[in-house]
Formats: sequence, structure tokens, C-alpha cells
Amino acid sequence: MLHNNLSINEKGNLAISGFDTVELANKYGTPLYVLDTDYVLNSCLKYKNLIEKYFGEGSKPLFASKALSCMEIYRIAKKAGIGIDVVSGGEIYTANKAGFPMENAYFHGNNKTDADIKFALDSGVGCFVVDNLDELAALQKETSARGVTVRAMLRVSPGIDPHTHKAVVTGSVDSKFGVAIETGQAMETVKALLACDNIQFEGLHCHIGSQIFDYNPFAEAADIMIRFIADVKKETGVTVSALNLGGGFGVKYTDEDADFDYEKVLSDIASSLEKACADCGVSRPRIYFEPGRSMVAAAGLTLYTVGSFKTITGYKSYVSIDGGLPDNPRYALYQSKYTCLIANKAGEEKTIRATVAGRCCESGDLIQEDVALQPCKRGDVLAVLVTGAYNYSMASNYNRLPRPAMVGVGEEGDRIIIRRESYDDIVKNDI
Ligand SMILES: Cc1ncc(COP(=O)(O)O)c(C=O)c1O
Repeated sequence: MLHNNLSINEKGNLAISGFDTVELANKYGTPLYVLDTDYVLNSCLKYKNLIEKYFGEGSKPLFASKALSCMEIYRIAKKAGIGIDVVSGGEIYTANKAGFPMENAYFHGNNKTDADIKFALDSGVGCFVVDNLDELAALQKETSARGVTVRAMLRVSPGIDPHTHKAVVTGSVDSKFGVAIETGQAMETVKALLACDNIQFEGLHCHIGSQIFDYNPFAEAADIMIRFIADVKKETGVTVSALNLGGGFGVKYTDEDADFDYEKVLSDIASSLEKACADCGVSRPRIYFEPGRSMVAAAGLTLYTVGSFKTITGYKSYVSIDGGLPDNPRYALYQSKYTCLIANKAGEEKTIRATVAGRCCESGDLIQEDVALQPCKRGDVLAVLVTGAYNYSMASNYNRLPRPAMVGVGEEGDRIIIRRESYDDIVKNDI
């Protein structure tokens, strides 16, 4: 199977972490997100240990919670003793409500409103990742009005093309995120930040993109950032003590994707970093990473009930399911690849090809086109694998479909961690 938490049990059903997915679908209904919470905890701990091992004390992972934001996730991050990346008032609120220690939260975003800044300060967010000069001025104004000091990192664009889908490239010079080294605006903003009385400079940040399998773009980014750190020292006399290299590590969604050896990639980045530091004569800063997808994607899968199998003679076949674009918009957005299978026939061969279609009034509401599947009929359970990242967090109520529930499976058994939305939830803000 694609990841080692998946198996086929003695009934021929798909299991995740030993839990029979067909039983989960019967018990909790569909569509249903399933999250292997032990897998998430282990991946937080794995990153924490590897980052400390290769980058030294004080280096740490921050879970990019845009990949999956819910109270249970922040409880797991707290238990693992890692930091988090948050990008909105809603994520801050959720983390705070879950009891996450907010001094270890890093607040991102290319347009933090005045209200966001106030809310983050009220919530005790430890560090702002400043995107631009306007935001910096707004943050200085608010912190000085309150007479408080806050930590800040600066988001820098290193000017890198990591060869991934263009919608998830974020570190190119013309990106909407951060300030570019190439144009001189990064240096200008560092100087402005250093001049702010109420802002304590924690370091620099970059994030080059997502779903990257090749280690070279990471090493290239590390190299460019270390050279910039040397320039900062030369121009301002300040030693940058922390460097956040972002997230973006690749995840295997189908058999066509390569395996990703996280330890190898981290150790290779560490070697490039050491070399760049030696070349530039700077001491190695503390290193942070912000993995999102690679911490949670393989922990999740989504279960649907098949409503129909329809063959358009001479053309194609459709399997229609009771969810779709509202619970997983990634195929509609980026034509993301997924592995689909019939969970109650997981042990059988995939002998047909079909397009898995959602139930919305959009022809683009597809989960996957022309995939191999076991023959299926109304009432079967269709599983889409590796949906732990950017599925629930990107979900909508299009066509007024309630968001599915999420069930956690792991040492604590199976239990609801996000309730299914009701029709009352759907109308609760309507007047
Ligand atoms: C600033 C930042 N950090 C981290 C991430 C996480 O990336 P990934 O989920 O690919 O690890 C993102 C994703 O967009 C991001 O924008």
C-alpha cells in the first residue's frame, strides 16, 4: 500500500492504522474524513528529532496549520512540543482555544489587517512573520500604542523556481509573498525592522513552494539566504540568529510519485547550509522548517458512498459519490493526483477505469479522472487516500453541502474530532 499505515484486512477491506474503513463508514456515515492521529504525532516527533539532529539546538519544526487546522491538531502539536504557523484570525483562535502555547505560534500572511494584528497581539502570538513595509508600520504602531514588544521574522523571497505546480510556487521574485532580495527591498525592510523600537528581530523566513521532491531547490534557497545573512551582517552589523526555510516537502499521492526520504533531504540541506556558512563566514543560525502537507497528508483519507456507476457508451464511465469539490477542491484547482479504491473490495483487482465525480452542479466537480478502480455499484464505499492535507482546510459549503465529520483513529480508539455540519449550521448566519 501507498503508506505504511494502510493495509487490507482479513475481510478484504481497506484499513487505516488497523481500523476497518468500511466499519468507520457504517458507524459515522459518509462523506467522512478519517485522520490517523498517531501518524500525525509521530511525524511531528520525527521532524522535531531530525531537525535537532541535523541543525542543532534551538532548531525546530513549526507545523504549517493551513494544511489542517482543527483543535485536535493543535493539541497534538502541543503534545509533541513543536511550534505552529498560523495565517489567520481563525487559525489563531482555534489554536488558542485548543490550549496551544501561543508564544510558539508564528503568524504569516501577505495581508494582515489591523484587526488581525490586534487579535494576534490579544491572543499572545509570539512571532509575526512580516511580509512588507506597510505591515511593519502597522505592527510598530499597534505595539507602541500598547507599550509591548513582539518578535518578528521577515519573509524574504529568494527568487527560486522549484519546478512544482505554478499555483504553489511562492519564492519567485514576482511572488505576492514577502520582499525580494534581488530588488534590494529585502535589505531595505530588514533595516526598517531593526529600527522599530517595539519589534524584536528574530530572523528571516523563506518558503519556496509546495510538493517539491527534489532537494536542490531547498539547498539553493538555503545558500541564497545565508549569503543574504552575510550581507545583512555587513550592512547593519546584526547577526541573524534564526532562519526559517519554510515547508514544501513532497508527499506520495500515487504510485507514480517518488518516495521521499525526509532524513536524507534534511541531512543534505544541512550539508549545503554548513558549506554556505563556511563560504560566507557566518555562524549557522537556528533553523526552522514549516512542514504542512508532509506532516498530515498521509495521515488522512476520505470515505464516500457510491451513488451510481454510469457508462456513457463509447465514451467513459463515471462513479458518482456523495461528496466532491466542497470537501476536496484540489483536483478542480490543480488537477492533483489521488489514489482511489473501493474500500469494501480493496483486496480485489482494479479492472475498470472511471472518473470519480462529485455531486455538485459543476462539470469540474471531479475528484479524479480516468483512474483504475475495482468494479463498483451503488452502496459501495469509495476511499480517496492521502487527503489529510489541504482537504478539510480548503473545504466549502458549495451547493449548501454540510462539511463532513472527521474521525480520529489511533491509540485512543476511533472518535469524532470534528462534528459533521448540520443543516442548522448551514443557515446559522442567515437572517
Ligand atoms: C509560508 C508557508 N510555510 C509553510 C507552508 C507549508 O507547505 P507544505 O504544506 O507544502 O509543507 C506553506 C504552504 O503554502 C506556506 O505558505
